[in-house]
Amino acid sequence: MSIKDRKKDHVRLCLDDQSAYRKSAGFEAYDFVHNALPEIDFNEVDTSAVLLGRRFDYPLFVSSMTGGYSEAGAVNAVIASFCEKNNLPFGVGSQRVMLEKPEETDSFSVVREHAPTAFIAANIGGVQLATGLSDAQIDLLVGSIRADAIIVHLNPLQELMQPEGDLNFKGILNAVKELVAAVEVPVIVKETGAGISASVGRKLYDAGVRVIDTAGAGGTSWSKVENHRTGNSESIFNEWGIPTAECIRQLAEEEFDGVELISSGGIRSSLDIAKSLCLGADFAATAQPVIQAIIDGGEEELQRVYEKWKYDLRVCLCLLGVSSIDDMNSSMLRPVFRP
Ligand SMILES: Cc1cc2nc3c(=O)[nH]c(=O)nc-3n(C[C@H](O)[C@H](O)[C@H](O)COP(=O)(O)O)c2cc1C
Repeated sequence: MSIKDRKKDHVRLCLDDQSAYRKSAGFEAYDFVHNALPEIDFNEVDTSAVLLGRRFDYPLFVSSMTGGYSEAGAVNAVIASFCEKNNLPFGVGSQRVMLEKPEETDSFSVVREHAPTAFIAANIGGVQLATGLSDAQIDLLVGSIRADAIIVHLNPLQELMQPEGDLNFKGILNAVKELVAAVEVPVIVKETGAGISASVGRKLYDAGVRVIDTAGAGGTSWSKVENHRTGNSESIFNEWGIPTAECIRQLAEEEFDGVELISSGGIRSSLDIAKSLCLGADFAATAQPVIQAIIDGGEEELQRVYEKWKYDLRVCLCLLGVSSIDDMNSSMLRPVFRP
């Protein structure tokens, strides 16, 4: 199957409930400590947050998703326009296809037409990076969308479930290290839904990575997506992965100097974002709800969902007795008692 057809299948399958993990992202293990005396004015509650030195209106990154065929270009255009209007950062999907088929570049570069000033991240797989991309190829990934950062995605689970997967995982860490040294933009490393542990986080930190995006388990299961494609829907690896809340807890405990943590994988409401921030994340990210909203009703529906999420986060902050994201901390959460 061509990369283009595979990408189309991915979008279609991610809209199906069967592609979600059965296990949760782990946020139900925590409850908020309600503050009956907030002593703040709700109208002054501010949801803005900083990532990579830039202040955004709301602590949500639209995760890397698509590109590489014309309908994907249309989805990227909607995401770009939405993020430009709302001052939110976003990533394009894997740009590997554009290295192999330069004629597909437009489905990525279209984002700058709709988002001239937004923060946009380029995207490439760790496996592809380790094959030894040339400087010119890396310049193309970044330059074609005038990217503010480059995301490297780690996806061994997904590759292993794909009949056409790339199975040589050697040399990825070193390739990431070389990329950090070679590019002027920051390098963000993410998983694609199976999570990043503390020990992998440590290796990335030692390689010079300063933004880690968990993309943990509990949302879209890339094992399920790939196995649905091949009709092997009962795979024993469908629930493989570290839940997002656990990734954030582990990574935050490491106290890496100067590292920003993005909590993603199964972020499905503002309460998931708020719990992530209390657990030590600096920002959150989501993928599936964004593509779902676009398919349901285009940019208008995406805007409607976003406004609800934003309002919900303001309510949550008020009920915690803080008027800004910067004042959130772990004392605002308590573990849920399980008999
Ligand atoms: C349709 C779709 C396509 C995706 N393609 C990519 C990709 O090209 N590169 C990447 O890093 N992650 C990709 N992802 C993974 C997401 O960025 C995200 O890490 C993962 O879906 C978990 O987040 P979620 O539970 O909010 O969906 C894709 C996700 C979706 C839903």
